[in-house]
Amino acid sequence: MIYVSNHGGRQLDHGRGAMEVLPEIVAAVGGRVPVIVDGGFNRGTDIVKALAAGADLVGLGRMQCIGLAAGGSAALVRLLEILETEIQICLGLLGVNTWAELDPSYLHPAPPVSTGATLGSFPLLTLEEQSFY
Ligand SMILES: Cc1cc2nc3c(=O)[nH]c(=O)nc-3n(C[C@H](O)[C@H](O)[C@H](O)COP(=O)(O)O)c2cc1C
Repeated sequence: MIYVSNHGGRQLDHGRGAMEVLPEIVAAVGGRVPVIVDGGFNRGTDIVKALAAGADLVGLGRMQCIGLAAGGSAALVRLLEILETEIQICLGLLGVNTWAELDPSYLHPAPPVSTGATLGSFPLLTLEEQSFY
């Protein structure tokens, strides 16, 4: 198995994100072994994107910590249920019945519509302050 991760972005600041390097690693692996990816997967649609890009598995770090902190194991289970529902809705809206039907043709680059802050490196800074960095 190949594990694609930048360790949650904490090892090498400003390094490339796991999703950015995933396609080239999937191409190099060529299906010989499963590929797992982690880093910044916070919504069901994020997970769908990773599988469309060729990952076989997605790892979750901070999201599970947030669930546990919010309400222990029951909240963690609820968090995973919400992710599952988001995935089902996304696949349904894409018209996809199985994971195998997903491929990179479902992905299209798009500029961010807002600056991520809540789970970002500097969540307490204003947009103006963030643009300084
Ligand atoms: C509480 C916590 C501790 C972690 N400790 C380490 C660590 O010691 N070494 C490491 O390489 N990555 C560590 N990570 C990063 C995870 O292995 C994983 O790559 C990352 O959490 C995935 O990104 P995500 O948190 O956005 O889902 C840690 C993550 C969390 C949430």
